[in-house]
Amino acid sequence: MEMQIKLTTFSLLLLLASSVRAQPRVFDVTKYGAAPNGDLTQALANAWKDACASLTPSKVVVPGGIYKLNQIELKGPCGAPIEVQVDATILAPQDPSHLNGDTQWIKFTYINFLTLSGGGTFDGQGAIAWTKSTCGKMKHCKQLSMNFGFGFLNNTIIRDITSKDSKYFHVNVLGCNNITFINFHAIAPGNSPNTDGIHIGRSTLVNITNTNIATGDDCISLGDGSKQINVLNVTCGPGHGISVGSLGKYPNEEPVEGITVRNCTLNNTDNGVRIKTWPGTPGAITVSDLHFEDIAMFNVRNPVIIDQEYCPWNQCTKQTPSKIKISKVTFKNIYGSSATPEGIILICSSGVPCEDVVLSNIDLTFNGTNSAAKFANVKPIIQGKIPSIDSSPGVSPAGLGD
Ligand SMILES: *[C@@H]1O[C@H](CO)[C@@H](O)[C@H](O)[C@H]1NC(C)=O
Ligand SMILES: *[C@@H]1O[C@H](CO)[C@@H](O)[C@H](O)[C@H]1NC(C)=O
Ligand SMILES: *[C@@H]1O[C@H](CO)[C@@H](O)[C@H](O)[C@H]1NC(C)=O
Ligand SMILES: *[C@@H]1O[C@H](CO)[C@@H](O)[C@H](O)[C@H]1NC(C)=O
Ligand SMILES: *[C@@H]1O[C@H](CO)[C@@H](O)[C@H](O)[C@H]1NC(C)=O
Ligand SMILES: *[C@@H]1O[C@H](CO)[C@@H](O)[C@H](O)[C@H]1NC(C)=O
Ligand SMILES: *[C@@H]1O[C@H](CO)[C@@H](O)[C@H](O)[C@H]1NC(C)=O
Repeated sequence: MEMQIKLTTFSLLLLLASSVRAQPRVFDVTKYGAAPNGDLTQALANAWKDACASLTPSKVVVPGGIYKLNQIELKGPCGAPIEVQVDATILAPQDPSHLNGDTQWIKFTYINFLTLSGGGTFDGQGAIAWTKSTCGKMKHCKQLSMNFGFGFLNNTIIRDITSKDSKYFHVNVLGCNNITFINFHAIAPGNSPNTDGIHIGRSTLVNITNTNIATGDDCISLGDGSKQINVLNVTCGPGHGISVGSLGKYPNEEPVEGITVRNCTLNNTDNGVRIKTWPGTPGAITVSDLHFEDIAMFNVRNPVIIDQEYCPWNQCTKQTPSKIKISKVTFKNIYGSSATPEGIILICSSGVPCEDVVLSNIDLTFNGTNSAAKFANVKPIIQGKIPSIDSSPGVSPAGLGD
């Protein structure tokens, strides 16, 4: 009896001790004056300020409901790990001029150990802005705002969040170190202009897992300085697919290395997995150690493509070849249907041909028969079945492919 009481007390103490350690301090925006259907901006800024100053783990909570939010930057460094749990639907101003001229609606910057969680939706309400956008058609245009800017974050997790109808790209990741997107969703109508899903640049250790991106534009694009990126179980489409690049347009870009895209599905996209670099431009970085495997394609226009003559809207000259050196690339276990006769197009640079490219078990059909493969300036290592090699000249990727 006494033994049992002792044991119970002991386990109660243990429970208490662990819950004291595990429970973050909660900063609920409704305690800071936010009310459903009202404006969240000031309450969120104040709750963030207090939570960020905490020297023990903290959590900012935006409970269920609908809130309006103006442009905001939630900035560190903070005193301890911090979580922002959003269960609400948060609406951006519809009028782009109400975003302080900023190119990102919600910014999280300079934070270590950030978690953004909750199952909430961030709705950029882009429909009106899209009708005024000229960005789909022109080289120069006034850039609309992205839903999220994640800048200079370390050890961050974005979980169960939906980004909807962003005016421009949904997410920009810049200068981050160890950031994971898990069960993240980016959605916008297929015809919305430039609503790319997740763009990553100058970041290391980025994981994108169990994510669905359907926006009509690039699903995931990896810019210069992308390193150790893992894209796993992502579904894309409609849109432009998963792209490395474009690269080489500017001097002083950083190399791209260590990219793995695995167990993904591309459905009705312009491209499947693509690497694109500009010819006739100064960029001369290396791109290496890229692996694309276990990928299902449904009605994809260019399922597997390296395009080192990427030059939309004639913004460059193709007279000098791309200086970007691509090596150690594998495309493995890629299957499904191509929307054009060419399942594989590898147009490498005549100046610096691709090296160590492996094509392994690629089963892509066009209209029920084996699709074709076209190569320039590359001698791929072939394993197992691949599309039939077409050695006729005049390789050109299907569609505009921006
Ligand atoms: C993130 O990590 C980098 C590299 O270790 C460091 O320089 C930077 O100060 C860190 N940022 C924060 C907000 O902790
Ligand atoms: C990455 O960040 C997560 C979340 O904060 C952390 O649990 C993990 O240990 C970090 N991994 C590395 C390699 O730093
Ligand atoms: C990122 O994904 C890789 C490969 O799946 C895994 O080894 C690594 O642990 C993951 N990192 C984090 C922080 O979850
Ligand atoms: C893949 O991601 C989807 C969400 O997009 C999820 O429902 C599914 O369980 C994930 N599959 C695996 C094997 O993790
Ligand atoms: C992804 O993994 C799941 C679980 O292992 C599997 O059922 C599914 O077929 C895979 N999808 C692709 C495209 O490889
Ligand atoms: C592809 O997308 C269409 C709608 O655009 C949907 O009906 C279909 O189920 C999707 N297929 C797969 C395999 O995800
Ligand atoms: C698809 O194949 C069928 C018969 O197999 C043929 O009649 C049709 O013309 C083909 N379509 C295209 C676009 O090649």
